[in-house]
Amino acid sequence: MIYQKAYHPGDISNLSFLVTGGAGFIGSNLVEYLLLHKAGKVVVLDNYATGFASNLEAFKVHPNFEIIEGDIRVIEDCNKACKGIDYVLHQAALGSVPRSVENPIATNSVNVDGYLNMLVAARDAKVKRFVYASSSSVYGDSKILPKVETQIGNPLSPYAVTKLLNELYADVFAKTYKMEITGLRYFNIFGPRQNPGGAYAAAIPLFMDALLANKPAYINGDGGQTRDFTFVVNAVEANIKALFATKHDGDPMVFNVAVSDRISIKELFLVLKSVAGSNNDAIHREERPGDIRDSLADISSAKKYLGYNPQFKMEDGLKITMDWFKQAFYNN
Ligand SMILES: NC(=O)c1ccc[n+]([C@@H]2O[C@H](COP(=O)([O-])OP(=O)(O)OC[C@H]3O[C@@H](n4cnc5c(N)ncnc54)[C@H](O)[C@@H]3O)[C@@H](O)[C@H]2O)c1
Repeated sequence: MIYQKAYHPGDISNLSFLVTGGAGFIGSNLVEYLLLHKAGKVVVLDNYATGFASNLEAFKVHPNFEIIEGDIRVIEDCNKACKGIDYVLHQAALGSVPRSVENPIATNSVNVDGYLNMLVAARDAKVKRFVYASSSSVYGDSKILPKVETQIGNPLSPYAVTKLLNELYADVFAKTYKMEITGLRYFNIFGPRQNPGGAYAAAIPLFMDALLANKPAYINGDGGQTRDFTFVVNAVEANIKALFATKHDGDPMVFNVAVSDRISIKELFLVLKSVAGSNNDAIHREERPGDIRDSLADISSAKKYLGYNPQFKMEDGLKITMDWFKQAFYNN
C-alpha cells in the first residue's frame, strides 16, 4: 500500500477534487490517493488521448468517483468538469519532447489552449486552488546545477515552451483574478501505470519492458546524460501538499518536484538490469533533439513552502515499479 501515509491535514470527506488527465499515469495515482483517503468527490476529465480506461478500472465502483470523457480544448467540457469542484489537480497535457518536435501544433493546442480553458473554467467555478503540472524542461539550456526555480534558461523544445507559457498564465491569472495557483515542475516521474508503449514512452518503462520481455533496449546518445528520477508517490505528496499549504502574498508560485539526486541513463540501465535479474545489454543510438544534458533539482523551496519531504529514493521506487510491471504485463 504505497498511499497509506496522509499528506493532507484533517478530513477531506466534505471536499471535491477534479483531476484532469486522470486516466493517465500521474493523474490515476492522484485519484488512487484521494479515494483511499476518503475524498468527498473525485472527478476525472480525460479524452483518453494518451491515458487508459484500464488505469481507472479499480476505482469505477467507488460511489464518490465520476469520469467525464471530454477534452480540455473544449471550454464546455472544462466548465462541466469544474462545476461544484473545490480543488483542481490539472495533469492533462500531451507529454513528451519528441512528440512536440514532431507535432508542435497538437502539443500547443492541448498544453496551452486547453490549459487556458481550464484556468478560465476554474476561475468561473470559483475553485479554492488550482495545482498544475509544469516540467523541468522549462530549465532549457541553463547549465546551472542544481536547478533553482528562479533561474531558468531558454526552452529547447515546443513542449518546454508550452510549460513555460503555463507558468506565465498562472502568474497573470493569480494576479488578475486573485486565484490561488501553484505549479509543480516535475523531474522525470516514474512508477506504476506509466505507459511503456508507443513512440513516446519514457526511459524507465521502456527499459523495464525491454528487460522483462528480453527485447532490445536503446540508450539515446552516450548515456552520460543525468536525470533526477522521481517516484510517483513523491509527486502525489507534492500535489496534495500544494493543495493545502498555507499561502502568503509573495510566496513562490512554482516548485521543483524531485528527489535532488541524479543518475546517468547508462547507470540507471545497470540498476534496472540488476533489479530485473537480466543479462540484456543496451544498444546506443542517436541523441534526441531538444533533450537537456543534465538535470538535478534543488528542492529546498518545496520543502520550505509546501512541507514536501519525499519519502521514496529512486531505488525503492524502481523495485515497486518493477514488481507492478511484472504483475500488470507479465502476470507474475
Ligand atoms: N511523467 C513525467 O515524468 C512528467 C514530467 C514533467 C511533466 N509532466 C506532466 O505531468 C502531466 C501528467 O503526465 P503523465 O506522465 O501522467 O502523462 P500521461 O500521458 O500518462 O497523462 C496525461 C493524461 O492527459 C490526458 N489528455 C491528453 N490530452 C487531453 C485533452 N485534450 N483533454 C483531456 N485529457 C487529455 C491523456 O489522455 C492522459 O490520460 C502532464 O501535464 C505532463 O506534461 C510529466
